[in-house]
Amino acid sequence: MTACGLDFGTSNTTLGLMRDGIPRLAPLEGEADTLPSAIFFPRSGDPLFGRAAMAAYVEGDQGRLMRALKSVLGSSLVDETTPVGRMRLGFREVIGTYIGEVKARGEAAADGPLTQVVLGRPVHFVDGDPEGDARAEAVLGAVARQIGFEDISFQFEPIAASLDYERQVQGEELALIADIGGGTSDFSIVRISRDRSGLADRASDILANEGVRIGGTDFDRHLSLATIMPLLGHGSPLKRAGLAMPVGLYHDLATWASINRLYDGKALRTIRELEREAARPELVGRLARAVEEERGHTLALAAERAKIEVAETGRMVLDLAFLEAGLSVGISHDEMVDHTGALAGRIAARIGACLSAAGLKAGQIDALFLTGGSTRLAHVRADICACVPLARVVAGDTFGSVGTGLAIEAGRRYG
Ligand SMILES: Nc1ncnc2c1ncn2[C@@H]1O[C@H](COP(=O)(O)OP(=O)(O)OP(=O)(O)O)[C@@H](O)[C@H]1O
Ligand SMILES: [Mg+2]
Repeated sequence: MTACGLDFGTSNTTLGLMRDGIPRLAPLEGEADTLPSAIFFPRSGDPLFGRAAMAAYVEGDQGRLMRALKSVLGSSLVDETTPVGRMRLGFREVIGTYIGEVKARGEAAADGPLTQVVLGRPVHFVDGDPEGDARAEAVLGAVARQIGFEDISFQFEPIAASLDYERQVQGEELALIADIGGGTSDFSIVRISRDRSGLADRASDILANEGVRIGGTDFDRHLSLATIMPLLGHGSPLKRAGLAMPVGLYHDLATWASINRLYDGKALRTIRELEREAARPELVGRLARAVEEERGHTLALAAERAKIEVAETGRMVLDLAFLEAGLSVGISHDEMVDHTGALAGRIAARIGACLSAAGLKAGQIDALFLTGGSTRLAHVRADICACVPLARVVAGDTFGSVGTGLAIEAGRRYG
């Protein structure tokens, strides 16, 4: 029997398998060992997952796309249903369908059943709400049981990443593990030691954990609200003095988990009424079209693409012709930093809290281990590095360290 570790991420999911004492990530979509956490329900037929789900949606297939399902775990949405074709599905069912598929693909790779799992979890699913945290974990555990896992336990995602890091360390050191993902940013301070890595109880080597519910999807949202949504009337005045377009509509349109809420017909009626009262009806008309043609996910994908391209090349012109012929917006790196710098600062601020909780000074940290897609944002990385300026910076496997570490943990607990 194979034990496994499941990193159900806000943006990407991995499944680590422990075989003969060696952790490896299962191929989940063709050769790829990551599966984007996306599910597409076509009007008829079976759901699609990962890249295939996003491709079907982008190519204009009729149906419903869902992403960032993990963020639902820490919100009241988890007990709600969402329209899928002519039915309504509970979010728990949707998450179960997704994780069930990952399990099935992992079983194909392992060539046998997977019944024992260590599930990764952020340090906090929700900020400042221990009960909400416990609820989110319980829901994830219940979903895992429902789809057929029998032995289920949890580990903090940054602790899992530290186990992956520990494989490459000689000697002993104090490490700050930073996992900046799509939905949350998590930190652990851990005494890393190859010699002690085999011990069953490592609790005394874990000095502190900290986390905040900010991740790459928040960067996408802030960037979209500042650069894309104004083209759809965000911030524009109504004819009646002192009034402006309501902010909530734009927030919902720029947030993965709430986009589908705008497609119930009611939002469109509201927008059409606002269009008549708007001082810039041509902008609000674009908002109406985006909602009517269900372009919300296309916009959110465009914002994410812009963030990544600007991070990598310094500038981009985002083509919005799908909304209106000839429409585009240029975004520079400085603008991106302006609009998302406060988020990076809030993430880095958790490091101070983590150091305090561990009773350590920044200078005592030997190594900073970076994992998670959002560590590829230069301003995020710079803010984090500045908190521990003397530490050696080690780049982990951006998308795989947590899943690999969870497999190591699974081997220890169930092996
Ligand atoms: N080259 C890049 N530059 C900047 N951001 C990137 C890059 N590549 C991916 N990202 C971002 O990284 C995030 C996904 O990272 P990751 O897969 O580590 O998150 P996750 O594990 O799914 O989320 P979480 O751990 O928060 O639940 C997304 O927001 C994505 O836009
Ligand atoms: Mg992650």
